[in-house]
Amino acid sequence: MEKLKIAIGCDHGGYLLKEKIIQYLDAVGVEYKDFGTYTKESTDYPVIAKAVSKAIVSHEFDRGILVCGTGLGMSIAANKIKGIRAVCVENTYSARVSRAHNNANILCLGGRVIGDYLALDIVDIWLKTGFEGGRHKLRLDMFE
Ligand code: RB5
Repeated sequence: MEKLKIAIGCDHGGYLLKEKIIQYLDAVGVEYKDFGTYTKESTDYPVIAKAVSKAIVSHEFDRGILVCGTGLGMSIAANKIKGIRAVCVENTYSARVSRAHNNANILCLGGRVIGDYLALDIVDIWLKTGFEGGRHKLRLDMFE
């Protein structure tokens, strides 16, 4: 796996899945910073999404993972930050193509939507897949 620095965060709806993902990152030796939240107490996902997104666009971290109840709020909030390409993913094909074609820099997951094992497969594929560039880069340039 490419050596990556990951920024990870969640709200209360994603807390348990975020803890599983952190166990996985520890097991495979991926460097990360946990931006919280750190308990199951209710919290506001836009605050965490913004903190993780800013850490990516500032180049402090290479990519991010955000977990809320559905993955939807996190992806909407993260995509408000210029330079963020956040994707809410629920299957392994989309995980792969979101990297290969869309060069997604934040992966959003729904802790109340998908099971832990599927989520960890998605994370594994998403971290290991590179951007193909070429025609896909030309399309991403059209966002500017
Ligand atoms: C929190 O209840 C829930 O709204 C949040 O985790 C997320 O699903 C938002 O999109």
